[in-house]
Amino acid sequence: MERLPGKVAIITGAGQGLGRSTALRFAAEGARVVVADVNCKTAHNTVTDIKSAGGDAIAVIADVSVSDDVEKMVAVTLADYGRVDILVNNAAMFGSGKHIAEIEEDEWDQVMRVNLKGPFLCSKAVVSPMRAQGGGSIVFVSSMSGVVANERQADYNTSKHGLIGLARCMAQDCGEYGIRANVVCPTGMNSPMMARTPAANVAPYAAMTMFSRFAEPEEVASAILFLASDEASYITAAVLMVDGGATGIQPSGRQLKEGAAKFLRRVESGAL
Ligand SMILES: NC(=O)c1ccc[n+]([C@@H]2O[C@H](COP(=O)([O-])OP(=O)(O)OC[C@H]3O[C@@H](n4cnc5c(N)ncnc54)[C@H](O)[C@@H]3O)[C@@H](O)[C@H]2O)c1
Repeated sequence: MERLPGKVAIITGAGQGLGRSTALRFAAEGARVVVADVNCKTAHNTVTDIKSAGGDAIAVIADVSVSDDVEKMVAVTLADYGRVDILVNNAAMFGSGKHIAEIEEDEWDQVMRVNLKGPFLCSKAVVSPMRAQGGGSIVFVSSMSGVVANERQADYNTSKHGLIGLARCMAQDCGEYGIRANVVCPTGMNSPMMARTPAANVAPYAAMTMFSRFAEPEEVASAILFLASDEASYITAAVLMVDGGATGIQPSGRQLKEGAAKFLRRVESGAL
């Protein structure tokens, strides 16, 4: 049985990575999907793949940090599908990778614009239609970096911490309209964002999980699906860690060493 029958879902950053996986999964579960991305080509690719699999989707080219684009995104959704039940605030960029004392003001502003202001604008834009319909579900994609501090990630981590606050405030202010707001916090994922980093640099992070590997985007999409669906009807303001246990356990020295070696063996054998 489909888990999102008749639902209309906007997914930002759905041209690749986690957003794309989530869009494909939602469509397979019966949702009509609005594939929103700044990248026209990848957004259309996702739509083509959804349609080839028998699903229903449209592409909207929008930068989540630009209010006119966000308003257009919601207007097109309402014009084409007549409602909006789900918003997944997934689009994001990585930070400068600099020490906090070295981050330039414009670098900081850019990360906050995309990762924090974007989800604010998108969430704000769906409140009115969701309220008129009697409710909706908003899922924010934060990160393990939204609950811990990583070295040289002050801009990215601050934006992801802020997202949890934003989600809780959405849940607080909009609960009376039947709108739920929840957060997923993945650790590393096998996505294009991760592929840009050398395996040796990320092996210690994989070793911190109980599985010595990162999540497949589909595994995170399953958590988003649950929170977005009516199965999570009593869940709001929740933060769901999808991190292979990394924030809940403290691995021993042996586990870290063996886990990193296991991860690198997997990468070398192409098993990831
Ligand atoms: N990859 C990881 O290891 C990881 C770990 C934890 C959390 N996350 C989070 O998961 C989410 C998805 O990550 P991913 O790895 O799939 O990223 P990705 O870089 O592979 O894809 C991001 C998508 O967002 C789009 N995008 C970027 N800026 C945009 C904007 N201003 N407006 C609209 N679209 C925009 C891009 O074009 C791209 O299609 C992000 O929120 C990220 O912070 C990723």
